[in-house]
Amino acid sequence: MYQRIRKPLFAIDAEFIHDLALSIFHVISKYPKLYKLIRTKISFRNSSKINVFGLEFPNRVGLAAGFDKNGEAYRGLSLIGFGHIEIGTVTLLPQSGNPKPRIFRVPRANALINRMGFPGKGCDYVLKQLTGWRPDGLIVGVNIGKNKNTPNESAVEDYLSLFNKLAPISDYLAINVSSPNTIGLRRLQERRFLEGLARKMTKRRDEFARKKGKKVPLLLKISPDLSDAMIYDLIDVVESNNIDGIIATNTTINRPQDANDSMPRTWKEGGMSGKPLFERSLRVISFINKLTNGHVPVIGVGGIFSVDDAKRMIDSGANLVQIYTGFVYQGPILVREIIDNL
Ligand SMILES: Cc1cc2nc3c(=O)[nH]c(=O)nc-3n(C[C@H](O)[C@H](O)[C@H](O)COP(=O)(O)O)c2cc1C
Repeated sequence: MYQRIRKPLFAIDAEFIHDLALSIFHVISKYPKLYKLIRTKISFRNSSKINVFGLEFPNRVGLAAGFDKNGEAYRGLSLIGFGHIEIGTVTLLPQSGNPKPRIFRVPRANALINRMGFPGKGCDYVLKQLTGWRPDGLIVGVNIGKNKNTPNESAVEDYLSLFNKLAPISDYLAINVSSPNTIGLRRLQERRFLEGLARKMTKRRDEFARKKGKKVPLLLKISPDLSDAMIYDLIDVVESNNIDGIIATNTTINRPQDANDSMPRTWKEGGMSGKPLFERSLRVISFINKLTNGHVPVIGVGGIFSVDDAKRMIDSGANLVQIYTGFVYQGPILVREIIDNL
């Protein structure tokens, strides 16, 4: 059914369709009675719960960051079966992001290219969306990033303020230092920035846990374009500061081998997600697993399009997986298939 409606949907601007879908899930999220009515019509197979970072996930499959940036639709989206949903990227202040169009489909590669640049309504708005009822068992993480106008030298202030506001209401927080569409953001993965960021954030996490009795796991979301030497350094910082886990990976600025100079300009700028990313994300996850002896939990994300892809990520060391582009291309059935077969 989804494959049939996909063709006309794919003829229309990608962000417009995304916003349309999101508004349907937003309406379901706003009305608990409507949510409950739909929930009674859906039967989920029992899947085994899994404990990661001290949290109990109802299954291993989550929705990756970027789909529900402002936390408006996660309750409705949970009806698809996701065990966790990552809201965001959320910035401290609202910002408009890059000019449109800024999401492109590349169907022949089963990929998307986006250069969104963290458009969002800001942290205070998201906070309001996160208060109130939650679907049973759903884990809600929030992915946080710095505002465009915040220089890297003071980025840590943005992340600390975001922690203060969002920790009381989030199950986990993901520190995003890997989106390619905010100039300079990925440099925060370098040791000279990352060390201070990791130290101050984990200190804040521990103070918060002591005062409030709630430990909010801190994850680091990383780029697939890091060299082995940079991953090695990064893992050293993660382990020495007790960061709780890694999300691997974000989108890539690299393009598949067959992309050449004749490709449209839209192929060149922005982060690519989907199938071309899969092998690279897998390799990064295996490498992390090897370096840490499996002691640092990983959420694997990047190009999962089938049950087999998800299994390979788990076999490479991922504890959980997330999906975005595969969901856009294959529809909700993919999520259910993976949950039922993992
Ligand atoms: C349109 C779009 C927007 C995204 N926005 C974000 C974001 O705001 N923050 C983030 O950490 N990742 C973002 N991502 C990256 C995804 O969370 C994910 O890491 C990446 O797309 C790889 O997974 P996939 O191949 O299953 O899509 C975005 C991806 C897409 C396609």
